[in-house]
Amino acid sequence: MKTLNEIEQYYQENTEWMNKYIKSFYNDNKEIQAGISIKEVHTKKVASISGVLAGHLQLNKHDVILAQIIGLFHDIGRFKQFTIYKTFNDALSENHALLGLKVLQEYNLLERLSSDDRQLLEFAIRNHNAKQIEQTKDKRQLLFAKIIRDADKLDIFRVLRPYLTTGDIEPCSAVFVEQFKNGGQCDYKLIRTQNDRKLVRLLWIYDINFSWTLSKIVSQGYIEEIINSLPQTADMKIGFGVLKNYISQKLKQPDMPVAY
Ligand SMILES: [Fe+2]
Repeated sequence: MKTLNEIEQYYQENTEWMNKYIKSFYNDNKEIQAGISIKEVHTKKVASISGVLAGHLQLNKHDVILAQIIGLFHDIGRFKQFTIYKTFNDALSENHALLGLKVLQEYNLLERLSSDDRQLLEFAIRNHNAKQIEQTKDKRQLLFAKIIRDADKLDIFRVLRPYLTTGDIEPCSAVFVEQFKNGGQCDYKLIRTQNDRKLVRLLWIYDINFSWTLSKIVSQGYIEEIINSLPQTADMKIGFGVLKNYISQKLKQPDMPVAY
């Protein structure tokens, strides 16, 4: 697939294919259907956000579409995962990114892509939910992995907003608070309380790659909302301060257009 028209057509056809594929998972069970619908909307939003972010980074038209294709397919494994295991928790089921790559292979969805684009897409999807992006010397692959990770997180803040609880009595675990004060990442396996879960969402901020994404997260009010829902202890306030300082520094650094 060489021309712009071809990749545009590929994206259009696969958007329609995904619509049908997702509909095949619709279920009379309300709980299952709610999960499928959440991921259906998420898929569309992430494809769109990825395209806008790629455009913001001044990628060429082909690569903007490629970013959208990665967004479209990034969570394709979720539908099977939720239907089989009734959970989106990878630790309790299986890694949904790897499951997604298997689905893409099962339906031969990538065979029309050039081998470079195909490898790049597989790299980005495999790494979209990893704690860290795996080492690579391929700057293009790294760039697209960063785009999907940002687009995904931005939309997950939207998805999780209605579930934000306030007044949770159990405090954040000491190990999390310590890492939060130092502005660091933490081990998700150590999550114990509802407040830990909320704190992890704040810690994602340190993993946002582009100023553009951060400014969207800030302007939607997600961060303030989560901060206000957490215990306002002295230690937590130190962490909030470190986070806010980090955000204002990051927002001062404009994203560099990608050179070709
Ligand atoms: Fe995902």
